[in-house]
Amino acid sequence: MSTPTSRVMHRNFRETPPKAIGGEGVWLIAEDGRRVLDSSGGAAVSCLGHQHPRVIEAMARQASKLAYAHTAFFSSEPAEELAERLVGHEPGGLAYAYFVSGGSEAVEASIKIARQYFIERGETKRQRFIARRQSYHGNTLGALAAGGNAWRREPYAPLLSDAFSHVTPAFAYHEKRDDETESDFVARLAAELEAEFQRLGPDTVAAFIAEPVVGATAGCVPAPEGYFRAVREICNRHGALLILDEVMCGMGRTGTLHAWEQEGIAPDIQAIAKGLGGGYQPIGAMLATSRIVDTIREGSGSFLHGHTYLGHAMACAAALEVQKIISEEHLLDQVKQRGARLERRLTERFGNHRHVGDIRGRGLFQAIELVADRATKAPFDPKLKLNARIKAKAFALGLACYPAGGTVDGRSGDHVMLAPPYIASEDEIDMIVDRLGQAVDEALKSVGH
Ligand SMILES: Cc1ncc(COP(=O)(O)O)c(C=O)c1O
Repeated sequence: MSTPTSRVMHRNFRETPPKAIGGEGVWLIAEDGRRVLDSSGGAAVSCLGHQHPRVIEAMARQASKLAYAHTAFFSSEPAEELAERLVGHEPGGLAYAYFVSGGSEAVEASIKIARQYFIERGETKRQRFIARRQSYHGNTLGALAAGGNAWRREPYAPLLSDAFSHVTPAFAYHEKRDDETESDFVARLAAELEAEFQRLGPDTVAAFIAEPVVGATAGCVPAPEGYFRAVREICNRHGALLILDEVMCGMGRTGTLHAWEQEGIAPDIQAIAKGLGGGYQPIGAMLATSRIVDTIREGSGSFLHGHTYLGHAMACAAALEVQKIISEEHLLDQVKQRGARLERRLTERFGNHRHVGDIRGRGLFQAIELVADRATKAPFDPKLKLNARIKAKAFALGLACYPAGGTVDGRSGDHVMLAPPYIASEDEIDMIVDRLGQAVDEALKSVGH
């Protein structure tokens, strides 16, 4: 038995990662002084980069007043103000916010409030949820059951509820047939969703849940034009709710505060996290329409759910300042501008690369997909662990990015996700692409390509 070098259970039980001891804008500083360019904001979290002075100051101000008061007794100024900022103007009809500690909790709350809403309406048969393959909704058991990612689900399959079923994702690069137009593809996906409602019994379905731009499992996959309008129409027709999981793609990441703004629809329930607090505090939220909240208010009166750290004052204060900065400094415009640059630079660097099959995404949420053969889109052998090699090579070059495997079906395929802070300069965007290019080529060389 080996002597432990750390008592922390790290992600890899055999390796202790270097300690991060500081941050400055898009840079993270390791214990040995090395500066690492954070090109993915961790997991699309650090939208304002690291150690933003205004956020640090807001947290210090709140800490000096009150760190925590239980929501069974009190509300707090930052929670009230944050909710007012997020849903006071009722974007897309979303009118109330429920503050939790992260994305999985936001998804759990979304699923549960959908179920409770139908109980309160006397539609108790509605207990099924339709989700999509190759999606990720979090790691707690409810959220994991909603997710459709094969390798994450596999070990826990016996524990996952069969209230969730999965349909084909709107992933054109892999799922659209060559003889289909984009609208044929959308029509086929809509027909499949309709068939799934019919198979389950339309009056048993509580909600359809999807990420507007799929994040970690498939690598920044936006849906084809018209897909979400078709989905919204099917849900409406059957009296089911639409839950959008914007934990990764939301809060400005794609160039609009909510990714659904670019789809011409709005959800009934939305999960947000990551960019909400920008990593300064662990915070997520479930947003819901007044129809849902009023139904419960006029029925049993309370949401049968809760956590100790609901509406945490420090977390809300940090998120409030993050959101103020995004709006006061017009960072959504910057996401669009820098996002266009990132996409252009990725296309220049990888557009003709023989092992990059697709470059996709929206705003500052872009990915490249690695393929063994561009013509057939055949993935690399997963045993080569190409994505892990790219991650290691990039890190050695001073770049933290977000490569992942299982892109095609949860088992094979490799992609690299980029989600730089909204404050990244043009030079920093260029540096990300240069370093990634070198890391990809070195990693491919290491597997004989
Ligand atoms: C789309 C999506 N939903 C939910 C989650 C879960 O969030 P958390 O890791 O904060 O629990 C994630 C995390 O990556 C995510 O990307």
